[in-house]
Amino acid sequence: MPAFAALLADLPSDVLPRAGVAYVHYLSFMLCFGALVLERRLIRPNPSKQDATLMVITDVVYGMAALALLVSGILRVMYFGQGGSFYTENPLFWWKVGLYLSVGGLSLYPTITYILWAIPLRKGELPQVSEALAKRLAWILNIELAGFALIPLLATLMARGVGLPGTLGA
Ligand code: HEM
Repeated sequence: MPAFAALLADLPSDVLPRAGVAYVHYLSFMLCFGALVLERRLIRPNPSKQDATLMVITDVVYGMAALALLVSGILRVMYFGQGGSFYTENPLFWWKVGLYLSVGGLSLYPTITYILWAIPLRKGELPQVSEALAKRLAWILNIELAGFALIPLLATLMARGVGLPGTLGA
């Protein structure tokens, strides 16, 4: 334990804040992905009250994690990364942001749907979910999952400078 304390004391002062923000970025990504997988598993026509309630809660967790992902990402660009221009001059960074925003935009449809479910659920009634709606939501969730799986690839290339004008990456 004293050896661990000495190790921490020897660290440059910015290491732990940088690691902390990076950790929030990864944790929120995992939460987003996990929530989408759970929603994908649960979606079916006319779900039970338990499943419908779980989906509403899962979507709230997804929304909060997506916000934490965005905020921690912006903090990394501005203060805790490799300097703002390292990212903003890289087209891969903008592809990453664009993909994140597209997935976020796509998730508005399921989110509005679940918000509407909360109304009957609070009255103790079941939401009406047709076969067609369940299929549509399943497809949207599939696309969101594919988008979320692709973003870390763009991130890891971007973090190594791939895509920066005049560099081949590190
Ligand atoms: C607009 C939203 C986002 C911004 C502004 C952002 C920004 C950043 C920044 C600045 C880094 C640090 C790169 C470095 O180490 O130099 C990073 C890393 C990373 N981001 Fe994001 N990010 C965003 C969204 C996401 C999303 C949605 C995901 C996952 C789906 C994600 C996954 C990652 C991963 C895995 C890394 C680590 C890359 C590596 O070190 O190899 N980010 N992000």
